[in-house]
Amino acid sequence: MDIVKTLGLYHRGKMRFRWMFCCVSVVVFIVAGCRRLPPSKPSSEWTPQEARGAEVFEENCARCHYPTTTEGKQGPGLQAITKVKALPSGAPPTDERLTDTILHGRGMMPATALDDDQLRDLLAYLHTL
Ligand code: HEC
Repeated sequence: MDIVKTLGLYHRGKMRFRWMFCCVSVVVFIVAGCRRLPPSKPSSEWTPQEARGAEVFEENCARCHYPTTTEGKQGPGLQAITKVKALPSGAPPTDERLTDTILHGRGMMPATALDDDQLRDLLAYLHTL
């Protein structure tokens, strides 16, 4: 009788341990998932517009921003800049907000003069990051 009871407790303890392990795994998974940014679109899959936007970026933004990491250069890295919840400043990463930042500058970032086509191409490119 006693041995059955002991085994029962042991089994329950093991189940509890497994349950806890499960919970911890789920939490770790969620935290890790939040930190990982969605992948950038590979350049081999760019549309012509996105490729033109990449050139606009090279000419006007690349000296201050890395496109494929969030590491800072002169300004913050722009990986996944349209997919994050908020820009480094805390503003939502909408096209309007990005356009405003690009055309008017912000803090130490100078304004960039782009025509409508260049701006549209650049925004399309920023969405691939
Ligand atoms: C001379 C360097 C420089 C150039 C060129 C430059 N930036 Fe910036 N950028 C910065 C700095 C510095 C900041 C941080 C500004 C701040 O929040 O004070 C910044 C911030 C930003 C932000 C984040 C804004 C926010 O609300 O947090 C975006 C997006 C951005 N730049 C995009 C661009 C794009 C696109 C271009 C090209 C058209 C560009 N930048 C050109 C220096 C630059």
